[in-house]
Amino acid sequence: MIEVLSVTSEVYPLIKTGGLADVAGALPGALSGSGVTMRTLVPGYPAVMARLSGGREVASFADLFGVRGRLVAGRVDGLDLIVLDAPALYDRPGNPYVGPEGWDWPDNWKRFAALSWVASELGLGLVEGYRPQVIHAHDWQAGLVPAYVKYGPSPTLKTVMTVHNMAFQGTFGAEIFGQLRLPEHAFSVEGVEYYGGVGYLKAGVECADVVTTVSPSYAGEIRTPAFGMGLEGLLNNRSATVFGVLNGIDMDAWNPATDPALAQTYTASTMQNRLANKRAVQEAFGLDQADGPLFAVVSRLTWQKGIDLLAANIDLMVAEGAQLAVLGSGDAELENAVRSATMRHPGRVGLVTGYNEKLSHLVQGGADVMMVPSRFEPCGLTQLYALRYGCVPLVSRVGGLNDTVIDANVAALQAEVATGVQFAPPSETALADAIRRTLALYADEKSWKKMQRRGMKSDVSWATSAARYAQLYASLIGLSTDDSADD
Ligand code: ADP
Ligand code: GLC
Repeated sequence: MIEVLSVTSEVYPLIKTGGLADVAGALPGALSGSGVTMRTLVPGYPAVMARLSGGREVASFADLFGVRGRLVAGRVDGLDLIVLDAPALYDRPGNPYVGPEGWDWPDNWKRFAALSWVASELGLGLVEGYRPQVIHAHDWQAGLVPAYVKYGPSPTLKTVMTVHNMAFQGTFGAEIFGQLRLPEHAFSVEGVEYYGGVGYLKAGVECADVVTTVSPSYAGEIRTPAFGMGLEGLLNNRSATVFGVLNGIDMDAWNPATDPALAQTYTASTMQNRLANKRAVQEAFGLDQADGPLFAVVSRLTWQKGIDLLAANIDLMVAEGAQLAVLGSGDAELENAVRSATMRHPGRVGLVTGYNEKLSHLVQGGADVMMVPSRFEPCGLTQLYALRYGCVPLVSRVGGLNDTVIDANVAALQAEVATGVQFAPPSETALADAIRRTLALYADEKSWKKMQRRGMKSDVSWATSAARYAQLYASLIGLSTDDSADD
C-alpha cells in the first residue's frame, strides 16, 4: 500500500466553494483498489468541526505560528480526515478565504502556512504509526508543502503539487518570510521567492517532485503567458514533470437514476422523466411552464466563467424562444447584469443567488442546455455533471472543456459522436453563433435525444485518472503500480 496525505483547503461534503472540494472529496474513494490509501488534511473550519464528533486527538501544538492547535483524526462520510483544529486561525464565519464582508482574511498567509507546515510535520512522522510516503498538495493554500519538504530533513518524502487554478496564486509581501519557519536560502528563485515577494503556488510548482493540473489541455495552455499568469517560464523549465490528469466525478453523488434532489429520477432510456425536473426548475426560478429550450448556468459569477459574455447574449436567447435559469453568485456587477435581464424578461429569465447544492442537481436534471462559456477552465466539473445528466453542454473551447465535450460539428454529427457544442474564441459573437447552433440542434428532436444519450454514456468517472495518480505516486517512490497493489 502507498500512503498518501492529501492537503486541501476544501473537501466535499464538509466544506465547498468550488470544484476543488469535489475533487478532494472524490479522489480518496476513487483510489481505493489501486493500492493507495489516502488521508486528507483539512483546516478545522466551523463546518468541518461540526461534522467531526468522535474524532481523536493525535497531536497538539503549543505554538503553531503563535497560536495553539491540535490534530484530530476521524472518519466522516467515508473520508479519513486529519483536521487541523486551531480556532484562532479557522473558527470564523464566512467562507474559507473571505470574511462576511467579502474581504480576504488579512492573515491568510499564516492560516495556510500553518496548514502546509503541519502537513510536512506529518510527513516526518509526527503521529506515531502514521507516515505518508507522498504528500499531495492542492492549490496555493497547500503550496508551501513542497517547500517545507524540500528544505526539511526527509530525503525520501515525495510531493505532488496539483494546480486547480492558476488565477489564484497566494502571493504575499516579503515581510512574511521571516515567520514562515523556512531557512534563509529558501527566499530565492529555487524556493518561495516570487517577484520580490513570497508566492505559495510558485513555491509548490518550483519545489514539488511532480506538478499536475486538472486537464491535458490546461497543462499545455499554462505554458503560455495568457494562461500561465506568470508561472509559464517555470512550467516550461520543468515540462517533463508537469502532467495533465483530467478530473472525474463522484458517480454515486451524481447519479440521475438515484439522485434524491430530483423531482423524478431517470436513466438514458427513461429520459422523458426529465420533464418533471424541467417543470421543477421552472418553478424554482420563477419561469413560465413553457416547452421551449431551457438553458442554464450553475457557476461562480466571474470574469473567468465568461458571465459577461452570457449577459450580453440573454436578449438574443429570449428572442429566439429560449428560457434561462442562472444559479450562482459572485461579482456584484455580473450578478446585477443577470438580475436586470430577469426584470426585462419576467417568466423567461430567472436568477437564484447563493450557494445551493441541491438545486444545482435539480438544474442538471431538468435543463436542456448547460452553459459554461469560460475564458479559461482548468477542468470544469459542471459540464461533466451535465453530460451524466443528459443536459447538453454548451462550452467554450478551452482547458478541460476542450477535453471533455465533443463538438457537434458536421464530422462529429455524421460519425454520431457529438456530445455538446463548443465555441471559440470566448467572445460575445462566437457565443451568439453557438447559441443559434444549439437551438438548431435542439429543433431536431431525434438527433438531440441521441446527443443527450451519448453524453450520458460518456465516461466521466475517475477510473482512468485515479489509475494515473496511483501510477504517479508509485513512480515517485520507486514502485510500479503492480507492486503497490500486491502489498
Ligand atoms: P470552479 O471550481 O472553477 O468553480 P468547477 O466547474 O470545477 O468550477 O466546479 C464548480 C462546482 O461548484 C460544481 O460542483 C458546481 O455544481 C458547483 N457550484 C457552482 N456554483 C454553485 C451554486 N451557486 N450552488 C451550488 N453549486 C454550485
Ligand atoms: C478549479 C477550476 C476548475 C476545476 C476545479 C477542480 O476551481 O477553476 O476548472 O474543475 O478547480 O479541479
